[in-house]
Amino acid sequence: MISRRACFRNLLQSLRTSYSSSKIGDYHRFASRASSFLQQVFEPSTYSDDENPGVDWDNLGFYMMRTDYMYMTKCTKGECFEQGQLSRYGNIELSPAAGVLNYGQGLFEGTKAYRSEDGRLLLFRPEQNAIRMKMGAERMCMPSPSIDQFVDAVKQTAIANKRWIPPAGKGSLYLRPLLMGSGQILGLGAAPEYIFLIYVSPVGNYFKEGFAPLNLYVEEEFDRASRGGTGGVKSVTNYAPGLKPLTRAKSRGFSDVLYLDSVNKKFIEEVSSCNIFILKGNVIASPAANGTILEGVTRKSIIDIARENGYQVEERVITIDELIDADEVFCTGTAVGVAPVGSVTYKGQRIEFKTGPHTVSQELYTTLEGIKRGLIKDNKGWIVEID
Ligand code: COI
Repeated sequence: MISRRACFRNLLQSLRTSYSSSKIGDYHRFASRASSFLQQVFEPSTYSDDENPGVDWDNLGFYMMRTDYMYMTKCTKGECFEQGQLSRYGNIELSPAAGVLNYGQGLFEGTKAYRSEDGRLLLFRPEQNAIRMKMGAERMCMPSPSIDQFVDAVKQTAIANKRWIPPAGKGSLYLRPLLMGSGQILGLGAAPEYIFLIYVSPVGNYFKEGFAPLNLYVEEEFDRASRGGTGGVKSVTNYAPGLKPLTRAKSRGFSDVLYLDSVNKKFIEEVSSCNIFILKGNVIASPAANGTILEGVTRKSIIDIARENGYQVEERVITIDELIDADEVFCTGTAVGVAPVGSVTYKGQRIEFKTGPHTVSQELYTTLEGIKRGLIKDNKGWIVEID
């Protein structure tokens, strides 16, 4: 039987003879990196790592673009995930009876890769996403990849899609890890098989507003999460129910929806795509992550930066009345970044907040983006360099 190592060598050999000389150098560079993942056998890129894939980097939004590679691995219930493989980006095959399709047994994550001014490729705290996926998997009765496997998979996928990482300052490569029950199951139960995969897309601003302040609508009819539910984990089932209130709010000209707690309809919780913060004087507050609120990686990072910058930061229950009285309001999330809120509309009343260059949200945004993009020294061990 031919070993995987030999198979990889054969592949390399046949490519040596079939590639044009200009592409051989590119392939060797790619292959030397890929060889550290010797278990993988995948079709190498016919593009150089630095070849522009034809993207208009100045006009990136948050849209799906088909890129070169995705990562995938499977696991049978009760076992560990196999060594994953990179393959050409494309559709996957699923049984119509897959757990994720029928009972929503699935989780997703979001993390970004950046290109620094001096050409380094940087990831931001990917192990935090790995930890969150692990916690979510426990809640959703799914096996999860180990922290190392998750981070390694993120690195491999980012490197394989290097040419899709926007130039410094133009955006980022959004990596979307997915964990799903892929095995077939008819009665309600945990699926017998699971897929962990990662796909990517270059992205710019999440909101069509760009860097302009957001206008939020306080949702009173629909809830995002309830006590004992899954609001605190990144379950795929948390998001589709939010489409109705989101679509309604957008059709009325709002950027997004701010949810209240489902019991009292009095405490602010989360925006459909991100966490929320308020500022009053020197005090910054965000709803405590008590099970109904997703503990965002950006949220966590902003709390640390704000404390370091001398602000008093509180994680606690926050009434809608407190928000109305705030000096500043801002949102945080991987996709969203740090976004200032210009107005919140509640019970027909539009309340406006301070925005602009001399705000605390701008100060925090500048520090966080500086660290992520390698402009500010990372003294917290948040940055993972991958190239
Ligand atoms: C992210 O911020 O990465 C998310 O997953 C939010 C999603 C609604 C885009």
